[in-house]
Amino acid sequence: MLKISSPEKLRELALEAKDEGLTVGLVPTMGYLHEGHLSLVRRARERNDFVVVSIFVNPTQFGPGEDLDKYPRDLERDEALLEAAGVDILFIPTPEEVYPEGFQSLVHLEHITKPLCGASRKGHFDGVCTVVLKLFNMAVPDDAYFGMKDYQQLNVIERMVRDLNVGVRIEGMPIVREADGLAMSSRNKYLSAEERVRALALFKALDKAEELLEGGLRDREELLSAVRAILDEARVKIDYAELLDAENLEEINTFQGSLLLAIAAFVGNTRLIDNRVLVAR
Ligand code: PAF
Repeated sequence: MLKISSPEKLRELALEAKDEGLTVGLVPTMGYLHEGHLSLVRRARERNDFVVVSIFVNPTQFGPGEDLDKYPRDLERDEALLEAAGVDILFIPTPEEVYPEGFQSLVHLEHITKPLCGASRKGHFDGVCTVVLKLFNMAVPDDAYFGMKDYQQLNVIERMVRDLNVGVRIEGMPIVREADGLAMSSRNKYLSAEERVRALALFKALDKAEELLEGGLRDREELLSAVRAILDEARVKIDYAELLDAENLEEINTFQGSLLLAIAAFVGNTRLIDNRVLVAR
């Protein structure tokens, strides 16, 4: 595995690989890797000849007062995991290499960034889209892999790729969970033992909603009240608990097709997200 930080070098190596007829797979990450990230890397390794993983804690997607400075990092461990996973290039640029002096461009999407995390983290998706498009231009991938835990992020990136004719195939991979159901997240590291127990409320709330829907409940408010009750009982502060059309993240009028139940909640100071796509028949 070659470790590089220069965007120009990455592009040169990726173009060289493509000239040799190899396909390039990109897994963008912010590091502190867990099984969720590794499932993306394994998928890239399976599908692509040349695998690039980026680790970059992207400052433009963090708002004031968020956890940019304390975002967990363990580069040594990440490197060992990626080496073992057979990655070809580990790309770890510095903030100055990604955003050189004078940088002033942003990629902004309209409607799809309005609800959920877009509503509570102003400017977050501008930062995500800008860095992801830059990574696409640097790594020139054929395929790029993202986790479905960040369901809105995945949908925003798919929209961006369609809207801007970016020639990258996007693949979303299922949420990877701990044995008890907690969605894997780098931010789980922040949880104390007691918070770790309470954090399970997100998963339990998703389970409850699915059970109610399967039992025939078709009242949005009633469903969300049941979800909120589970989170409240665990003293988890709700940022949002929303039921939206899973295809376009718009509000639903009827219970039909794929519905996205998305939750963001603070367990102590740690903001966690989780979601499930529910099918109403
Ligand atoms: O999901 C993440 O880790 C980040 O939002 C991403 C896609 C690497 C962009 O910084």
